[in-house]
Amino acid sequence: MISSAPPLLRLHDICFRYGPENPAILRHLHLEIGQERIGLVGPNGSGKTTLFQIIVGLLPLERGEIVLNGQKIREEKDFRGLRRQVGFLFQNADDQLFSPTVLEDVAFGPLNLGLSPEEARDVALHTLKELGLAGFEHRITHRLSGGEKKLVSLATILSMKPRLLLLDEPSNHLDPGTRNRLIEILQTLPQAALIISHDWDFLARVTNRLLSLDHGHLHPCDHEYLHTHQHLHTYGNHPHQHGETQ
Ligand SMILES: Nc1ncnc2c1ncn2[C@@H]1O[C@H](COP(=O)(O)OP(=O)(O)OP(=O)(O)O)[C@@H](O)[C@H]1O
Ligand SMILES: [Mg+2]
Repeated sequence: MISSAPPLLRLHDICFRYGPENPAILRHLHLEIGQERIGLVGPNGSGKTTLFQIIVGLLPLERGEIVLNGQKIREEKDFRGLRRQVGFLFQNADDQLFSPTVLEDVAFGPLNLGLSPEEARDVALHTLKELGLAGFEHRITHRLSGGEKKLVSLATILSMKPRLLLLDEPSNHLDPGTRNRLIEILQTLPQAALIISHDWDFLARVTNRLLSLDHGHLHPCDHEYLHTHQHLHTYGNHPHQHGETQ
């Protein structure tokens, strides 16, 4: 059966460089995202974060087209609308969190969407609870640990109920238990997602398609590639299992 619904997000012929003196980072890049979970891998500096910043309008397009639900995104007004539907988790949580307390940060998005302060508070508390962060609401944001900041950042996005998640290295700085909790959370969320990570095992568990960004283009990767490798155990020679935990 042929579906006539447009993809959730379509990137067409995207080109970008940081100023004329710098090399091209994205070269005629194409991507279509439907109701799916895509892992995005690629070497350091290949342009993964840059691509996310372009999608949400934090960097200007040099050439190309961004289409959300069949609607072309051209000007700042369009990007404002896009940012209500596309939740962007920054690579560095300190860039994301800016309010004094966790509750204020997580309620900020819903308030911006027009909810009353009471409604925004309820949504924020519910989202924190869903992420296992009940009781964090009055914590001072800048005093949270790195992993806690990452989860609270995720809460600030989920509280806006976006249709598409752009997650930039969400499992970074998480201990194995918290990383597993994040995997379980992502597996239960309904949203489509594009997830940047250098953590291949993480991507294997939370995505169903893999793309690699290299030399400005996206290339499909095998999602499952059976191989053996030497590895280091985080907790030395403590008893452990392979597969479910690191
Ligand atoms: N404002 C800027 N001006 C000039 N060059 C920049 C700027 N921001 C990033 N770059 C360069 O653009 C390239 C792509 O950076 P980007 O952060 O998108 O890479 P990345 O794939 O996310 O890397 P990583 O895996 O290390 O996070 C890098 O070489 C980076 O140094
Ligand atoms: Mg990056």
